[in-house]
Amino acid sequence: MPGLVLVGAQWGDEGKGKITDYLAETADAVVRYQGGANAGHTVVVDGKEYKLHLIPSGILTGKTCIIGNGVVLDPAKFLEEIKYLKDLGVQTDKLYLSETAHVIMPYHQKLDELEEDKRGEFKIGTTKRGIGPAYIDKAARTGIRVIDLLNPEVFRSKLTRNLEQVNFLLEKIYEVEGFNFEEIYQEYSGYVTKLKPFIRNTPVLINESLDENQKVLFEGAQGTLLDVDHGTYPYVTSSHPTAGGACIGSGVGPTRIDGVIGVAKAYTSRVGDGPFPTELLDETGDWIREKGHEYGTTTGRPRRCGWLDGVVLRHSARVSGLTGLAITRLDTLTGLEKLKIAREYRIGNEVIGNIPNDPELLRQVRPVYEELPGWKEDISHLTQFSDLPREAQHYIQAIEDISGVKAPIVSIGRERFQTIIRWPIW
Ligand code: IMP
Repeated sequence: MPGLVLVGAQWGDEGKGKITDYLAETADAVVRYQGGANAGHTVVVDGKEYKLHLIPSGILTGKTCIIGNGVVLDPAKFLEEIKYLKDLGVQTDKLYLSETAHVIMPYHQKLDELEEDKRGEFKIGTTKRGIGPAYIDKAARTGIRVIDLLNPEVFRSKLTRNLEQVNFLLEKIYEVEGFNFEEIYQEYSGYVTKLKPFIRNTPVLINESLDENQKVLFEGAQGTLLDVDHGTYPYVTSSHPTAGGACIGSGVGPTRIDGVIGVAKAYTSRVGDGPFPTELLDETGDWIREKGHEYGTTTGRPRRCGWLDGVVLRHSARVSGLTGLAITRLDTLTGLEKLKIAREYRIGNEVIGNIPNDPELLRQVRPVYEELPGWKEDISHLTQFSDLPREAQHYIQAIEDISGVKAPIVSIGRERFQTIIRWPIW
């Protein structure tokens, strides 16, 4: 099985970084295929914490790491992250960057901020990293790609045209100061020498690896419910964190994907605005937030917490064709008397098994819960599924039953070794 995709099965922050890092040990290459520095992956190895935003978590295992064409790249953040890794003794000589990835410009960040403020009560709760505006330019065919930075004339011409439009918008509509061409031109031209060694035609590189039967892991950022097509639109990001996004964002055909692992927390969390049917606005929600340290890696924002939502998991299984689940943070639930999993939603007198596409209806649904007993024993040192307390085993089995997907991976702590593998993944 050389092509394996790993996606978030909820609203992001499911612990994909840890699972990627774990699977990367047996992979030859890891590819990040969408999003940008809005993501935040925390990985703990031998007690040392690594916080990554752009570079695939596979970098910690010394594997080939590729930032695919579907990513929007903030060059300053990318170079900062390389320095951060080098200072920690992590090698980056097998790190490659797609020449067709789009570049985040300072005006993208400014527009992200201004547009969020303008939305008022309808705000999305974006990370304000310029992600949405960068993808807008990509779709509008005005975007600046990594390859464009390498040609001073092309870069000059594209930046000139873009700034004409952006400065008009900023000055006339938002009534704020526009951007200075020379400042941006000099700053971004200054990145070129440092970026050059990493730049490659990455679809060729990735397909060659697959041709040689190497194991390639495609690492999604964010989560299924934040997908611009399959998420809780409009409260979503601007890319495709679902499995289909792996093909588009890295330049491989669907026939090269052999399995899809959905990473899901044993409960649910969400940052940003938008509907969240199983949200707990009570002390249990606060308890999970504190026990699980549920604060954003990128923005530090407190995450909204709630019970596990089986309707969400079935949706993720469907739109990404999940072949397995990795359940993370099971240890966080230790100590709760009772646990709940939403099996369906109720709306008025009707019981529904799917997420309604109308966000207003989604706001009105009430979860129909299945209640399960909790456990009190510390599980964070266990290595076998059969060693887990009976209640914890039942909880995992209930997740499998409700989602229709088996869970070969159960994570019980932040460290690599705190991972129960029930059967081989590839
Ligand atoms: P954007 O991606 O910054 O445009 O934000 C759009 C939505 O996606 C907001 O609700 C963000 O909070 C959410 N989001 C973006 N990146 C992440 C992530 O890595 N984890 C969880 N939520 C995210």
